Amino acid sequence: MSWIDIGHIDDIPLRGARIVKTAVGCVAVFRTAEEEVFAASNSCPHKGGPLSEGIVHGKSVTCPLHNWVFSLETGEAQGADEGRIATYPIRLDAGRLLLDGEAVGKRSAA
Ligand code: FES
Repeated sequence: MSWIDIGHIDDIPLRGARIVKTAVGCVAVFRTAEEEVFAASNSCPHKGGPLSEGIVHGKSVTCPLHNWVFSLETGEAQGADEGRIATYPIRLDAGRLLLDGEAVGKRSAA
Protein backbone atom coordinates (compact mmCIF):
# COMPACT_ATOMS: atom_id res chain seq x y z
CA MET A 1 0.00 0.00 0.00
CA SER A 2 1.12 3.57 -0.53
CA TRP A 3 -0.16 5.82 2.18
CA ILE A 4 -0.98 9.44 1.38
CA ASP A 5 -0.84 12.02 4.15
CA ILE A 6 -4.11 13.95 3.89
CA GLY A 7 -3.84 16.06 7.02
CA HIS A 8 -4.17 15.96 10.79
CA ILE A 9 -7.01 14.39 12.75
CA ASP A 10 -7.70 17.80 14.29
CA ASP A 11 -8.60 19.06 10.80
CA ILE A 12 -11.79 17.03 11.20
CA PRO A 13 -14.42 18.09 13.72
CA LEU A 14 -15.28 15.53 16.36
CA ARG A 15 -18.19 13.38 15.07
CA GLY A 16 -17.80 15.15 11.74
CA ALA A 17 -16.07 14.70 8.42
CA ARG A 18 -14.12 16.44 5.73
CA ILE A 19 -13.84 15.82 2.03
CA VAL A 20 -10.76 14.67 0.19
CA LYS A 21 -10.80 14.85 -3.60
CA THR A 22 -9.36 11.70 -5.17
CA ALA A 23 -9.24 9.96 -8.54
CA VAL A 24 -12.26 7.89 -7.48
CA GLY A 25 -14.26 10.96 -6.51
CA CYS A 26 -14.89 12.73 -3.26
CA VAL A 27 -13.96 10.63 -0.27
CA ALA A 28 -15.36 11.60 3.11
CA VAL A 29 -13.04 11.14 6.06
CA PHE A 30 -15.00 10.73 9.30
CA ARG A 31 -13.87 11.15 12.89
CA THR A 32 -15.82 9.36 15.60
CA ALA A 33 -16.31 10.36 19.22
CA GLU A 34 -13.74 7.67 20.11
CA GLU A 35 -11.10 9.37 17.93
CA GLU A 36 -11.26 6.71 15.24
CA VAL A 37 -11.16 7.65 11.59
CA PHE A 38 -12.90 6.06 8.62
CA ALA A 39 -12.85 6.87 4.91
CA ALA A 40 -15.87 6.22 2.71
CA SER A 41 -17.69 7.49 -0.33
CA ASN A 42 -19.30 10.89 0.24
CA SER A 43 -22.31 9.99 -1.87
CA CYS A 44 -25.32 8.26 -0.37
CA PRO A 45 -26.57 5.38 -2.58
CA HIS A 46 -30.16 6.47 -2.00
CA LYS A 47 -30.22 9.87 -3.74
CA GLY A 48 -26.66 11.07 -3.52
CA GLY A 49 -26.87 12.89 -0.20
CA PRO A 50 -23.55 14.27 1.08
CA LEU A 51 -22.63 11.85 3.84
CA SER A 52 -19.83 14.14 5.05
CA GLU A 53 -22.61 16.47 6.23
CA GLY A 54 -24.32 13.67 8.13
CA ILE A 55 -24.17 12.83 11.80
CA VAL A 56 -21.52 10.40 13.02
CA HIS A 57 -22.70 8.16 15.86
CA GLY A 58 -20.77 5.15 17.08
CA LYS A 59 -19.14 3.76 13.94
CA SER A 60 -21.99 4.81 11.67
CA VAL A 61 -23.13 7.87 9.77
CA THR A 62 -26.67 9.07 9.16
CA CYS A 63 -27.32 10.66 5.78
CA PRO A 64 -28.44 14.29 6.15
CA LEU A 65 -31.15 13.98 3.50
CA HIS A 66 -33.39 11.05 4.47
CA ASN A 67 -31.64 9.59 7.50
CA TRP A 68 -30.41 6.32 6.06
CA VAL A 69 -27.67 4.88 8.25
CA PHE A 70 -24.42 3.30 7.02
CA SER A 71 -21.70 1.44 8.86
CA LEU A 72 -18.39 3.23 8.45
CA GLU A 73 -16.59 -0.07 9.04
CA THR A 74 -18.27 -2.14 6.33
CA GLY A 75 -20.13 0.47 4.29
CA GLU A 76 -23.32 -1.58 4.65
CA ALA A 77 -26.66 0.12 5.13
CA GLN A 78 -28.16 -0.56 8.55
CA GLY A 79 -31.61 -1.77 9.50
CA ALA A 80 -34.19 -1.50 6.73
CA ASP A 81 -32.02 0.77 4.58
CA GLU A 82 -30.48 -0.61 1.39
CA GLY A 83 -27.18 -0.56 -0.41
CA ARG A 84 -23.69 0.19 0.67
CA ILE A 85 -21.04 2.85 0.37
CA ALA A 86 -17.47 2.23 -0.72
CA THR A 87 -14.97 2.29 2.12
CA TYR A 88 -11.23 2.91 1.89
CA PRO A 89 -8.32 1.95 4.12
CA ILE A 90 -7.17 4.78 6.35
CA ARG A 91 -4.94 4.85 9.40
CA LEU A 92 -3.65 7.25 12.00
CA ASP A 93 0.04 7.77 12.63
CA ALA A 94 0.90 10.26 15.37
CA GLY A 95 -2.22 12.25 14.54
CA ARG A 96 -1.61 12.25 10.79
CA LEU A 97 -4.33 10.84 8.53
CA LEU A 98 -2.95 8.35 6.05
CA LEU A 99 -5.21 7.23 3.22
CA ASP A 100 -4.41 4.23 1.04
CA GLY A 101 -3.35 5.83 -2.24
CA GLU A 102 -3.87 2.69 -4.30
CA ALA A 103 -7.46 2.32 -3.11
CA VAL A 104 -8.25 5.87 -4.23
CA GLY A 105 -6.64 5.52 -7.62
CA LYS A 106 -3.24 7.01 -6.99
CA ARG A 107 -0.08 4.96 -7.30
CA SER A 108 2.26 7.05 -5.23
CA ALA A 109 2.12 9.94 -2.83
CA ALA A 110 2.38 13.28 -4.59
S1 FES B 1 -29.99 10.59 -0.09
FE1 FES B 1 -29.21 9.63 1.68
S2 FES B 1 -30.95 8.85 2.66
FE2 FES B 1 -31.74 9.75 0.83
